[in-house]
Amino acid sequence: MCGIIGYTGGKQAAKILLNGLKRLEYRGYDSSGVAVIDNNRIDVIKSIGKISALEDKTDGGKKLNGFVGIGHTRWATHGAPSDINSHPHLSTDGNFAVVHNGIIENFAELKAELTAKGIRFASETDSEVIAQLLQYVYDGDMVEALRNVTSRLVGSYAVGIITSHCPDTLYAVRKDNPLVVGIGANENFIASDFAAALEHTHNFVQLGDGEIAKLTSHSATFFTADGEPVEKTPFRVDWDISQAEKDGYDHFMLKEINEQPKALTATVRPRVKGKDIVLDRINFDAKNTNRIERITIIGCGSAYHAGIVGKSFIEKYCRISVTCELASEYIYSDPITDNRTLTIVISQSGETADSLAALRLAKKCGSHTIAIVNVMQSAIAREAHDVLYTHAGPEIAVATTKGYTTQVSALYLIGLKIAKIKHTISDARYETLLSEIITLPDKVSEILADITPIREYAERFADRKCVFFIGRGTDYAASLEGALKLKEISYIHAEAYAAGELKHGTISLIEQGTVTLALTTQSALYNKMLNNIKAVQSRGGTVLAISSQANKQISEQSDGMLCIPDCDDDVTPVLTAVILQIFAYCVAAKRGCDIDKPRNLAKSVTVE
Ligand code: M6R
Repeated sequence: MCGIIGYTGGKQAAKILLNGLKRLEYRGYDSSGVAVIDNNRIDVIKSIGKISALEDKTDGGKKLNGFVGIGHTRWATHGAPSDINSHPHLSTDGNFAVVHNGIIENFAELKAELTAKGIRFASETDSEVIAQLLQYVYDGDMVEALRNVTSRLVGSYAVGIITSHCPDTLYAVRKDNPLVVGIGANENFIASDFAAALEHTHNFVQLGDGEIAKLTSHSATFFTADGEPVEKTPFRVDWDISQAEKDGYDHFMLKEINEQPKALTATVRPRVKGKDIVLDRINFDAKNTNRIERITIIGCGSAYHAGIVGKSFIEKYCRISVTCELASEYIYSDPITDNRTLTIVISQSGETADSLAALRLAKKCGSHTIAIVNVMQSAIAREAHDVLYTHAGPEIAVATTKGYTTQVSALYLIGLKIAKIKHTISDARYETLLSEIITLPDKVSEILADITPIREYAERFADRKCVFFIGRGTDYAASLEGALKLKEISYIHAEAYAAGELKHGTISLIEQGTVTLALTTQSALYNKMLNNIKAVQSRGGTVLAISSQANKQISEQSDGMLCIPDCDDDVTPVLTAVILQIFAYCVAAKRGCDIDKPRNLAKSVTVE
């Protein structure tokens, strides 16, 4: 997904912009560009391909003088990847340059209107209309011009703007697309995420929908969509810049897999006070909790899978019916949601467009909403009634790892909290599960201490065309995430099936050498899984079991086995997830894939 960085201050802008763009590389892009104001003139340099190509073209930034500028990494939507279609886009008179994330849905009408007035467009993009409109409406007041332009735009946008009419000033405006303002000492920034500006400042302001930022090196002023000045209080982001660096690991994904003990601790420990679970400011009093008749968990991709794990845990212990919904489906459904429904929206980034739209719909239906989010002050975090941050630290790799496991543990905490209030769990079971959740980070560390056996299996199976994942109950939920991880980064076709479903169709796909990863951590379902494993083997399939200590004897019945540390059956998905993440990582590494930036994928999907 596209990335934005903007700078105004006392240093040479181009170098800071190039550096910021490198921090945004993980979002996925096909071209990049920078624009800087030098002597009241805007200079633009753009390049298709890697940022290193842009560095070459700009001689590491040296070719661009000036202290105010904007930069962009583009992920093509309207118009093929090319130098011309890359951002920043200039107005025909060269006085306005813009970078844009999002989609301008009515760009064709606007383009036709401006073309009829004699304005010539250089690119095929939707974004260029913003620069051209600015030229057209500007009448000496930039804030007024931006209000005028945004009132005509339909769609989602985060826009950074510079203009030779105000050569010291950087402007920004956003709607339904993330953009933060970094407040530094005698310098200010705009960025599509914190990582791009984090090495310069930890103080940020979140720009609200429709708001305009006007930044110089010494001032940061903000306006509502009506042009009224608005005060904004910066908040601090405690993330360390080293967290956004590889730190000696070959890939961010591997680093983030290894950060899970720390991330899980950060999600859980501050919320456990003695035997109590205190979920920040969320008001789980008896009256509110007993009113909940159903729970809807909403997310996309791995966040949705975390929801499915949460569903079995919450239903089992809270005795409340839980449905899991894909955000992209939920928003076009007619959901059965009201003020007795608790809606939990899960999103690592907090900016996923479908999840944000689903949250808004749930609120509109009268539901109380809780967001489980990693990125502070992101749109979903701000718009939900309550938020539970996972505190996993920045997640850079496109394939989520610590994002997912911390979401699962946050759902465990919510489930236990509700169960305790509703008296649907015994004290003894509550205490056992709480202590199991608290010790999960140590057990994850145990897995990470020696990944050799996982790597050996992964390398053995790395040449396969198709891998199946099967499990029952919460193992099935964990299988879904295992399969997604493998297909996402290794491009091997992977499918997860509820093991009992195999015989209803899928087993026809099993043939000599087909690999099936069978999750067997649920003791109560062990014998049933054994039957499924035998059915696969008798058709020539190879079975690698991912087992709990209690079910270790599965090794005699399977072709290979990886074991998770001893733990309660109800919390095994966090541990199996780690094994499956490492498995997917090692397969992808063996196949030489671009692990952190898998093809066609973006970290944060801010368009529908
Ligand atoms: O930021 P979100 O949690 O809302 O992202 C949701 C999905 O796009 C995300 O989990 C995606 O499926 C991951 N790339 C999977 O690894």
